[in-house]
Formats: sequence, C-alpha cells, structure tokens
Amino acid sequence: MEQPLNLMTPEVRANPYPLYAELRRGPPRQVEPGGMWAISRYDDVVTVLKDPRRFSSAGLGRSFLPPWLERNPTADSLVMKDPPEHTRLRAMLSRTFGPAALNRLEPSIRAIAEELAESLVRRQEVDFVADFALPLPSRVLNLFYGLEPSLALRLKSWADDLVSIPASQPSPQRMAEVRHSLAEMERCFTALIEERRATPGADLVSDLLRVEGITQEEVLSFLFGLVPAGVETTVYLLANTMVVLSEHPRELERVRVNPALIPRLIEEVLRYEPPGQSSLRLTTEDVELSGVKIPRGSLVVALMGAALRDERQFPEADRFSLDREGSSNLAFGHGPHFCLGAMLARMEARIGLEALFSRLQGFSLAPGQLRWSQSIIARGPLALPLRVEPARR
Ligand code: HEM
Repeated sequence: MEQPLNLMTPEVRANPYPLYAELRRGPPRQVEPGGMWAISRYDDVVTVLKDPRRFSSAGLGRSFLPPWLERNPTADSLVMKDPPEHTRLRAMLSRTFGPAALNRLEPSIRAIAEELAESLVRRQEVDFVADFALPLPSRVLNLFYGLEPSLALRLKSWADDLVSIPASQPSPQRMAEVRHSLAEMERCFTALIEERRATPGADLVSDLLRVEGITQEEVLSFLFGLVPAGVETTVYLLANTMVVLSEHPRELERVRVNPALIPRLIEEVLRYEPPGQSSLRLTTEDVELSGVKIPRGSLVVALMGAALRDERQFPEADRFSLDREGSSNLAFGHGPHFCLGAMLARMEARIGLEALFSRLQGFSLAPGQLRWSQSIIARGPLALPLRVEPARR
C-alpha cells in the first residue's frame, strides 16, 4: 500500500518540487488533504484543464458559500462556471480586458511602479512584498475598478478573507470578520456600479455595464472574483522573481544590464516558480487518465507547478535559464478558464521590474528562512526582507 503524500505540510509548501517529482514518476494518485487526486504530468494537466465536460469547475463555488454565510457573490464568479454558461459570460467579460483597456492603464501602471521603485531604493532595507510587490497590483486593480485610492490595500485583506472561506472552520469572531468584509465589498461595488450607471466613463465598470445582456448580479460577481484573482498571484510573480534572482546572481546581472531580457525572465519565473500552482476540478463521470480510473465526483488538483517542471516537456526542467525559448502559458491555466488577466499580469510585472532594475545595482536577501504561503493554489513568500543597493548614476 502506497503511503499517502501530503501537499500541505510546511516542508512541502516551503519547497513542493521534490514531491512533485515523486508524483510525476507515477500516474495520478490520491493525496492529502482529503484524498484529492493529484495530476502532475504536463500532458495530463492539459487534458484535465481543456475538458470542462468531464473535469468541471461548477460545484467548486459551493465551498465559498458555507452554511454560516448567507450570501457570497464570489461563489457565482466566472471561474466557478462550466460551459455553456461560462462561454456566454466569458465572451461578454473578456471584451473589457482587451488591449484598449490595457493601453489605457499602461501610463498609470508605469507611474505607480516608478514611485514605488524610487521609494524602495531610497530606503534600502525593505520588505519587498509589503513595499513593492503588494502595492503595485493592488493599486493597479484599484485603478482598473475605479475605486477610491484609499481602498487599494483593503483589496488584499478582502482577498485573504475570500480565499480563507473554503478551508476554514472559523471561530465566531472570524465568521464576523469575513461577513463584515463581504458586506463592505458589496457596498463598495454596488455604489460603484450605481455611480458608473449614472455617469459612464473610460473604466472597467463602465465597460462592463455597456455589455449587452449582462445583469447587475453578473457584474457584481465578476468584480468579487477579480479580487482574489488579480492581486495575490501578481504579488507572488514579482516576489518569486526576486527570490529566484537572489539564487541566480549571474542571471540578475544579465537582466540588469540588458532590460530587454525582462519578458524572458518573467516567462522563466512563471515556469520555474509559478505563482499559480494548481487549479481544482470535480469529475462528472468515471475518468481514465494515464491508465488510472478516477471515480465520478472526485476532487482533482491539476498541478501546473509540477507540469511546468516535467522533463518530457522542458529539458533540464529543474534548471532556471534565461536562454529557454517559448512562453510558459500553462502558468495561467489552459483551455476555457485560461487566465483573463494574463496580459495585464505580464504587463504589470514587466513595467514593475523595468522601473526597479533601472534603479538597482544589486540586492541581497536578509539571512533566515522565508515563510511561504500555505496554499496549494498560490505560491509565494509572505514577506521578503531585502537589502537594496541603488544604481550608481
Ligand atoms: C501572475 C499573475 C496571475 C496568475 C499566475 C494567474 C493564474 C490564473 C489561473 C491559473 C487561472 C485559471 C484558473 C482555473 O483554471 O481554474 C486564472 C483565471 C483567471 N484569472 Fe488569473 N492569474 C494572474 C493574474 C490575474 C490578473 C491580474 C487578473 C485580473 C485583474 C486575473 C483574472 C483572472 C480571471 C477573471 C480568471 C478566470 C477566467 C475564467 O474562469 O474564464 N488573473 N488565473
């Protein structure tokens, strides 16, 4: 009898890659927590993600609406739906994420990135997460929404409260906090929708309200869904980049002197240390995958973090290299739920790192163990103490 492997031990969260390698050696198997089926090989992960008929996302939303919550629009957001409803909604929503919206945002993203980078190099001893990686995507998403600037950092605590809902058996105090966050989000987003309905402008909510046939509840669920989708992953992309570069000083020097390498750096970090490690699905029928039968109604975890280190797809997969060709699209999922924000996330990371590297001579990580996020979905350090050396001008 095989020993159950556990995806959630602190050692595995600190470094999941040895366990992923062990998983890839065999076909899909059940793991802890909860006996979910781990899918680790590149081809199998792609098979799962491109087949919403057998590997469904609908039903995952239920875990966001436990009995102690009366209402949570996140449970009904795009990522929790299957075709044909998903197809209809996604076609309506994706228009608001096109190049026009991104071009509109680009100058503001650059201004935010430069302000944050300037302050970082002036202070020298920093927590890269709190001082750069978190404020950049929070302020960008806030701008995208068109919310009050003062709410930018609230977005992260909203996201934390939302993602804590499925896992927790919360204390009464915690339940009250989460209910408070949900009510606050709903108040803010509803007020925003009413405002934009009265005075439309060039912003996400006005664009959404212009979409023919969209309902108020669909707009609201989408705005809720973007909070966890749009902040944490981008925070970890930026933070993981700095962790990986601290371990690869030669590559840091290459991108610092040649910023044209930044897009390549981002692609290789997305592959080597992906901020989005996995996606969950539920099987709708008995399914055979790599010769193993997974019963109907099983929870499946498609491990992009493992697939992106699969030797069958990426030669010398455990080696970080700026000379690797191609993009790491699987880091943003695959198939119908492929990340709507992939272009935005890549743009934020590129602009953020350009602003930073043009002001840096180098940096070093403070000694000590990093604390990593305790999630099988999103991976990154919770804090990243750095000593920054400003560029000699
Ligand atoms: C590095 C940053 C990011 C990563 C690694 C990432 C990763 C992902 C992944 C893996 C999925 C697929 C989930 C699934 O298959 O169940 C996804 C979906 C999604 N992402 Fe992202 N994401 C990032 C940034 C963003 C940003 C900045 C936004 C928007 C502001 C965003 C919005 C979305 C939305 C709306 C979906 C759902 C798409 C659908 O269900 O059709 N993401 N993302």
